[in-house]
Amino acid sequence: MNVYDSTRMSDVLAPLGYLPTDQPDGADMIILNTCHIREKASEKVFSELGRLKQMKQEKSADGGRMILAVAGCVAQAEGDEILRRAPQVDLVFGPQTYHRLPELVTRTLRDENAGGVLDIDFPLESKFDALPEESVVEGSAAFLSIQEGCDKFCTFCVVPYTRGAEFSRPASDIFAEAQRLVAAGAREITLLGQNVNAYHGSAPSSVFAAQSGASVTPGTWGLGRLLRYLAEIDGLERLRYTTSHPRDMDDELIAVHGDEPKVMPYLHLPVQSGSDRILEAMNRRHTADDYRRIVERLRESCPQLALSSDFIVGFPGERDEDFADTLRLITDVGYAQAYSFKYSPRPGTPAEAIEQQIDETVKSERLETLQNLLSAQQVAFNQASVGHTMPVLMEKTGRREHQLSGRSPFMQSVFVEANRRLLGEVVEVRIDKAHARSLEGSVVTGSYNGIAAAGATSSSQAPSSSQATGPVGGPAMEAAS
Ligand code: 5AD
Ligand code: SF4
Repeated sequence: MNVYDSTRMSDVLAPLGYLPTDQPDGADMIILNTCHIREKASEKVFSELGRLKQMKQEKSADGGRMILAVAGCVAQAEGDEILRRAPQVDLVFGPQTYHRLPELVTRTLRDENAGGVLDIDFPLESKFDALPEESVVEGSAAFLSIQEGCDKFCTFCVVPYTRGAEFSRPASDIFAEAQRLVAAGAREITLLGQNVNAYHGSAPSSVFAAQSGASVTPGTWGLGRLLRYLAEIDGLERLRYTTSHPRDMDDELIAVHGDEPKVMPYLHLPVQSGSDRILEAMNRRHTADDYRRIVERLRESCPQLALSSDFIVGFPGERDEDFADTLRLITDVGYAQAYSFKYSPRPGTPAEAIEQQIDETVKSERLETLQNLLSAQQVAFNQASVGHTMPVLMEKTGRREHQLSGRSPFMQSVFVEANRRLLGEVVEVRIDKAHARSLEGSVVTGSYNGIAAAGATSSSQAPSSSQATGPVGGPAMEAAS
């Protein structure tokens, strides 16, 4: 989401003459786009600001001026504190006000000694309506924000406070943005939202009117329906979405995984814990078995679906038996990859006030055990890919000469020796070797220029019995002949 927001900020700033640079030294403006989700992320902001202070001083010693800005969720949550602790900061703005950047920058330049400009409103107008159309997309895999904010209020999480209430963009705006991304070279689009499958945007009035034969008030669509609509875009080959909540996996969304070939067979579905007691204390509003059943239904719909998740260890009150429940859930489900964190108390959240906080050493031990299990599953999943052929979207040049890297349908990084002209293409790749976090393969000759896209459709829909029954199934692709 922050990567997406940063590109949109650069779109807003372009008419003022600002261009992105990968060289902060001497820049006219530096914006730190920040994350507040865990303490480590927010603390980084202050250490980075110390470093940038020096850069700013050097620029003014040379007679120039550098605007130093802090954006994102740390800005939203700690705006006043930032201006107090770091007077070198000129401008602080939250995630909902970056469409006002031109005005904020003008104010900053005008009031040089006013002590910093702060804008952490939740404005009534939506930034999406006020933003300019996005500029050129870099690369073949693009992000598109469709939903923001969260009404779930998990007791450990700052998102409902920093990003605000749930908001879904209208489907027609999303469709138009997706079309522009594809026209600019995107082959894959990842739909973004803090709670993306809670999406409930207004349906396009044209579609609704055509269905009912009258001009009527548009209804709302869920994510499943939206995915089907976007899949109609020619030239768009892959759709993904992140991040989901188990409670919002409705029937249509589950069905779309089985019958829409452009929706990739990979899903990030955070569960956080496998203990019902902890899930309740987290206010997740589902049990571990509810989650198992959702996974079962997803795999009935799409047998080779690869799963990813988020886990928190050491939530206040977590006992050894709760942690054991989490390990059991991981073993039952089988993940292709996952993210895991030590619980980090966040200011203003209900869990911060719970008395039974867990000792840091216990958290570290549990995290290590959990990560060992998840890594073993990831290695097994990657190993099971060897010898299979799968469509890979070539996204970047690799570190070695003539090396390209891309993503498999299951989000694995795949490295191949290949010509640069394959960048942006979906190419059939035979997997030769598996590493802990990536794969190596070779291009199957003649598998590009559209032929691969057709291959992607048929092979990524091949059923897999191993994934449905075993804890960690391999990708269900055609074996290389
Ligand atoms: N401590 C640790 N991890 C957290 N996450 C969110 N809040 C916290 C916290 N206070 C994790 C959750 C979430 C992911 C984005 O970050 O696992 O799914
Ligand atoms: Fe945070 Fe996700 Fe829970 Fe919302 S659903 S409060 S974003 S963890």
